Amino acid sequence: MDHLTVVDHPLVQHKLTIMRDEATSTAEFRRLLREISQLLAYEVTRELPMTTKKIKTPMVEMDAPTLAGRKLALVSILRAGNGLLDGMLELVPSARVGFVGLYRDEETLEPVQYYFKAPSELNDRLVIAVDPMLATGNSSAAAIDLLKKEGAQNIRFLCLLAAPEGVARMKEAHPDVPIVTAALDERLNEKGYILPGLGDAGDRMFGTR
Ligand code: URA
Repeated sequence: MDHLTVVDHPLVQHKLTIMRDEATSTAEFRRLLREISQLLAYEVTRELPMTTKKIKTPMVEMDAPTLAGRKLALVSILRAGNGLLDGMLELVPSARVGFVGLYRDEETLEPVQYYFKAPSELNDRLVIAVDPMLATGNSSAAAIDLLKKEGAQNIRFLCLLAAPEGVARMKEAHPDVPIVTAALDERLNEKGYILPGLGDAGDRMFGTR
């Protein structure tokens, strides 16, 4: 997989435009995020390894394609990652789920871990880390560091919007982790928000401010 894949499917782009619009309600934003996450999940799982198993249709026996290997691990980067997680789990209900909680230390500006819970045998699974906004890339890179420390070897990063700064940061820190996104936006503002962006993804999906 390329280091960066922008999913330019018309349905994804149409839904994303509605999500960006500040007039879109919390309920609508959440519903669209769920729908988009399924379309992105389709793309990020495109090259999963396959095998076959013998089944019997009502007509004949056949060797039918089926997913190979251990169940996927989806890892939500809290809190906004949970918005992508819900829709993905509908598409991949047997996935294992992990959570990474990070906050930014106001003095050092470095990400600090406050929660980490990962599925077993991470080394043997495709791990998909999810966070809607790849902005500076600092927390995403730190989350991937933690997953690698836990043994993950095959990781992909799924987001809704990416800033060029975040993509560059991830490429430098984790060149082996492909990024899948619905859009590559223009830049970050001085506060680290993506432009044109959609504002604070967590606030928009949970109705906080
Ligand atoms: N996180 C957000 O929720 N929005 C941004 O624009 C950047 C980071």
